Amino acid sequence: MDFTGPVELWQKEGAPGCPQKGLPCSPDSSELVQECLNQFKVTTTQLRQIQASLLRSMEQALTGQASPAPAVRMLPTYVGSTPHGTEQGDFVVLELGATGASLRVLWVTLTGVEGHRIEPRSREFLIPQEVMLGPGQQLFDFVARCLSEFLDAYPLGSQGLKLGFNFGFPCYQTGLDKSTLISWTKGFRCSGVEGQDVVQLLRDAIERQGACSIDVVAVVNDTVGTMMGCELGPAPCEVGLVVDTGTNACYMEEARHVAVLDEDRGRVCVSIEWGSFGDDGALGSVLTAFDRILDQESLNPGAQRFEKMIGGLYLGELVRQVLAHLAQRGALFGGCTSRALLSPGGILLEHVAEMEDASAGTARVHAILRDLGLSPGASDAELVQQVCTAVCTRAARLCAAALAAVLARLQHSREQQMLHVAVATGGRVCEHHPRFLGVLQETVKLLAPECDVSFIPSVDGGGRGVAMVTAVAARLAAHRRLLEETLAPFRLNREQLAAVQAQMREAMAKGLQGEASSLRMLPTYVRATPDGSERGHFLALDLGGTNFRVLLVHVAAGGVQITNQVYSIPESVAQGSGQQLFDHIVDCILDFQQKQGLSGQSLPLGFTFSFPCRQLGLDQGILLNWTKGFKASDCEGQDVVCLLREALERKQAMELNVVAIVNDTVGTMMSCGYDDPRCEIGLIVGTGTNACYMEELRNVAGVAGDLGRMCINMEWGAFGDDGSLDTLSTCFDARVDQASINPGKQRFEKMISGMYLGEIVRHILLHLTSLGVLFRGQQTPSLQTRDIFKTKFLSEIESDTLALRQVRAILEDLGLPLTSDDALMVLEVCQAVSQRAAQLCGAGVAAVVEKIRENRGLEELSVSVGVDGTLYKLHPHFSRLVAATVQELAPRCAVTFLQSEDGSGKGAALVTAVACRLAKQARV
Ligand code: G6P
Ligand code: BGC
Ligand code: BGC
Repeated sequence: MDFTGPVELWQKEGAPGCPQKGLPCSPDSSELVQECLNQFKVTTTQLRQIQASLLRSMEQALTGQASPAPAVRMLPTYVGSTPHGTEQGDFVVLELGATGASLRVLWVTLTGVEGHRIEPRSREFLIPQEVMLGPGQQLFDFVARCLSEFLDAYPLGSQGLKLGFNFGFPCYQTGLDKSTLISWTKGFRCSGVEGQDVVQLLRDAIERQGACSIDVVAVVNDTVGTMMGCELGPAPCEVGLVVDTGTNACYMEEARHVAVLDEDRGRVCVSIEWGSFGDDGALGSVLTAFDRILDQESLNPGAQRFEKMIGGLYLGELVRQVLAHLAQRGALFGGCTSRALLSPGGILLEHVAEMEDASAGTARVHAILRDLGLSPGASDAELVQQVCTAVCTRAARLCAAALAAVLARLQHSREQQMLHVAVATGGRVCEHHPRFLGVLQETVKLLAPECDVSFIPSVDGGGRGVAMVTAVAARLAAHRRLLEETLAPFRLNREQLAAVQAQMREAMAKGLQGEASSLRMLPTYVRATPDGSERGHFLALDLGGTNFRVLLVHVAAGGVQITNQVYSIPESVAQGSGQQLFDHIVDCILDFQQKQGLSGQSLPLGFTFSFPCRQLGLDQGILLNWTKGFKASDCEGQDVVCLLREALERKQAMELNVVAIVNDTVGTMMSCGYDDPRCEIGLIVGTGTNACYMEELRNVAGVAGDLGRMCINMEWGAFGDDGSLDTLSTCFDARVDQASINPGKQRFEKMISGMYLGEIVRHILLHLTSLGVLFRGQQTPSLQTRDIFKTKFLSEIESDTLALRQVRAILEDLGLPLTSDDALMVLEVCQAVSQRAAQLCGAGVAAVVEKIRENRGLEELSVSVGVDGTLYKLHPHFSRLVAATVQELAPRCAVTFLQSEDGSGKGAALVTAVACRLAKQARV
């Protein structure tokens, strides 16, 4: 069969009419007809090839492959969750492009009650051809006029209406309400729109119309509206299929598989835009000459090849092409044709649907053919039905092959052997075409036997679905606003951080002078960092962090060897009597000595005691107040070295000589200073937080002498206890403080350290749940439980390597019923709380390094900070944010952060070693 191009084809054969009128249907006519019908046969093998080829294109596009450009676009739609069913309210839906040359405006009321539906009120407006092919502004003004006409007709009120824009064309979306048209399809070709944000064009037109204040909150592809409008059923409805004038499908893909999104958490609905499949020639083997003619005559030759074999805009045209071809060869209608038969668009989808409907019988076919100006012979109706069936069956089977590719993709991305899924179907071909859905389902079963697929016809062409997305968008937008409002006080700007730095400097100066200040600036009697000449065996205790440790530290020329044992301090002991606590400490020492074969040996002991102590000497420390959950009685105001010695005496362990008591910040500074002499600052960000640094003795009012330096334990945990941080403190901080065992105390610590961040997050989550933003507003007993949200969860949830499902797993273990939106919001809450903590900590370090730089009258200072503490060490971003804040606030200081490997126990031993060395030199 030689096709040398459409136009001249029928001209050569003479003008419309019936030159060969009355010619009997020759034997080779039926052969001719059969030959035509055979061209529309697509074998199962070919279908599987199409399925595989489409799947390949889908996966190439998902990975962002640029060249060769995949045949399908796989466009993320920013619809991240299928409907809750709780959405409610009145929404206006504007539908353009789904049903060809018509525009529909709907008023959809969502009741938020499952199964309770209110029929949408809608109106359809025909779009004049010249508007579909004219300037874009004309089209959007037409749309805005129809919208206001609709709103005049319905008492929807004119304020605060939320509108969802159902726009059935390929668009790059960069948000639920931001979408750029890639190219027109389906008979539209307005100028000045491709490459533009269609939401903005609509907003501008509505404004020009000046009708009413409508808030366009979402733009949705019609397939997405169809999927979202799907009634909640046994299987999750995660695929939307539209076959109307055009065809396309969408489905819920794992966000981490969508390269352009660089989002590794949750799912996102992807509009496949499979209409363009085959534009790269992949369909060559199944394309007929009729397909080629149709494409050449279309508005967009070479584009949307797959759509032109399936979409309702083209089925009629394909049938017309075949009937015209057969008629002109005398195989039909006695060789007669008609204007309708020879004119593009002469046969419509409705005609094909009716003619193919066997139940309508051939009489109806005859009637339709007569309406088309033809005079069908006896056998013509049946032959025409066969042609319609061939064209539509092929369309349904091709559509099935494409759908099977989507199901295979879902199976793959869900790593599921057996997939249970519901497919929402929409569009007049699916709805009105007698056999389309049947053939589609049958063929899908053949091509994807391991998928249990239920097909759910959309009830109103996706109007409800678009209203759902609009409701979800409005809800998400409202939730996002509430989330931002809630987290805004945690987002500290440079001015606020610089103010904290300045307030801390002021408090440091006052504290050093012994004036009233929330910073006690306690002299530690550590005058020097180690010089490497220390030697000997030392016992060290490390109390005050997550773990209590007893250590044996051997300082030798070749370095420091440490043997240690971790012991627990039960809450009952930490909050019991002081005697009980110190007896427990000595029991651990004795157990350690016994295990290390040191029993009875006399060893100098260094005591890391991580609580605020006013030291009167290296081995004298008066506990000022407990912090971090400790509350042992009869200790505050006591010299804890005496308390330890008394306990040693009670346990007959007098051979142990307590030489030094150091704060964990000092121990950490000394420990890191042993390897890096520039380390003159110690920082702890763990259960609690604090810092120390080497201050010029001349600036330390409470200690005699002006020469040299002394390490000052700032006890910055208490910074702000004088109210200087109240401007930054939030209601959540207040709740954590009030619930703590030391309300009003350690305010800076309670905004930064590990003992409290989890609780701050928990209170924020409770608040957001009470606002309905999280967990569908359901308060869960677990979230009401104090300390259930561990600070380590922040580190886990914020880790870059954790996919959302793992975040969800952590939260589900807490018995929280959450969606991926919830998990994303919990992540943002954790990020806001930990970021503020790190920035405040950075502002504190910036104050210290600037103090040292100014102390030494230096332009530039290069200094190291020894750091320890679980939060600083384990949180994925904390250390980087601290360093960035210091860089920002103290640009003239080059600060190196050294993570302490051996903890402050080693530091305590080194302080003891220095003390022993100085004592020996003093004796010589
Ligand atoms: C290390 C140090 C301790 C310090 C602790 C703070 O373990 O050796 O002296 O108290 O860190 O961190 P943490 O997270 O345990 O409270
Ligand atoms: C468009 C799709 C749309 C489909 C069904 C196609 O021409 O490109 O965006 O979903 O028609 O209306
Ligand atoms: C204590 C400090 C200690 C810090 C880190 C605070 O609660 O008051 O002495 O350095 O925690 O452990």
